[in-house]
Amino acid sequence: MPLVPMRQMLDEAKKGQYGVGAFNVNNMEQIQAIMEAARATKSPVIVQASRGARKYSNDQFLYHLMLAAAELYPEIPMALHQDHGNSFETCSSAIELGFTSVMIDGSLEEDGKTPSSFEYNVAVTKKTVEFAHARGVSVEGEIGTLGGIEDGHGAGGTGLENLTDPDQAVEFVEKTGVDALAVAIGTSHGAYKFSKKPTEEVLKMSLIAEVHKRLPTTHLVMHGSSSVPQELREIINQYGGALKPAWGVPVEEIRKGIAHGVRKVNVDTDNRLAITGAIRKVFVESPEKFDPRDYLKPARAAMQAVVEARMNAFGQAGHAGDYEAKTLDEMKAYYK
Ligand code: G3H
Ligand code: 13P
Ligand code: ZN
Repeated sequence: MPLVPMRQMLDEAKKGQYGVGAFNVNNMEQIQAIMEAARATKSPVIVQASRGARKYSNDQFLYHLMLAAAELYPEIPMALHQDHGNSFETCSSAIELGFTSVMIDGSLEEDGKTPSSFEYNVAVTKKTVEFAHARGVSVEGEIGTLGGIEDGHGAGGTGLENLTDPDQAVEFVEKTGVDALAVAIGTSHGAYKFSKKPTEEVLKMSLIAEVHKRLPTTHLVMHGSSSVPQELREIINQYGGALKPAWGVPVEEIRKGIAHGVRKVNVDTDNRLAITGAIRKVFVESPEKFDPRDYLKPARAAMQAVVEARMNAFGQAGHAGDYEAKTLDEMKAYYK
């Protein structure tokens, strides 16, 4: 199947009342893990690349790997998404490269750390929406900021400092015309989100319900949605790692979000944990091995298992065959 516009994928998810996992990639093995998981569970999927991923892999390598995935998995609807675009230029270059969706994260300034003003966020998001929609490409914006800075995105702190304000969310969507809206509900990127199992005190699921009530036709996005399973942390530590105890976002909380309008669920850290644990295991148990395939194969399989579990939990499993891909020209006409 050709790459699918994310807006179409999320509209379909709304019809079917499910969420779609958006998984980060940097290399071939991660793309393969996601596509195999999508095939095994018959799932539509969003594959996303951060600025760091584009730099690490080089745009052309990444894009051509995506084209290979589309060609090799013709039954899987796949959207190619820019994660956390920090500027108009990051998003326009992704669109020119062939991405079918971009996130302009104007909740932070271009440095990806400093919370921006509402006016700045509206202006940069609106400019991106005009450019993207004229080309049929979907846009995700963000209102409120996530916590943590460990992977370079986030305002620092606990994630509770700049929660989404529902009134601002309504004004933001009206002024910018985004297809999807990322909300800040207390999550952070990375492995250290909460010091104990999160309750409403630190993970404001009620905010999602509130925003959804006010914006029933806007697709909501949950960032920082890794669950940080204890067993993945334990494998890493068992084989020489040093990860501190931490909690992520429990899958049952994500499912509550999906019941209240969340259609895109961002997961990266859980896959990083699975990959690292599998590689460490080979290094410790078979120190004589030096062929990268000996550790990349189990790493790929470990990531696939996590992605499959999330696809089943988010409800996207079984929906790959529900629709034909719309072209970007069709989306262009739709936006007009
Ligand atoms: O948004 C955060 C994702 O986990 C991507 O992180 O910038 O290290 O590639 P990255
Ligand atoms: P995690 O770090 O929780 O996997 O979040 C990923 C994310 O939000 C990517 O944009
Ligand atoms: Zn994110």
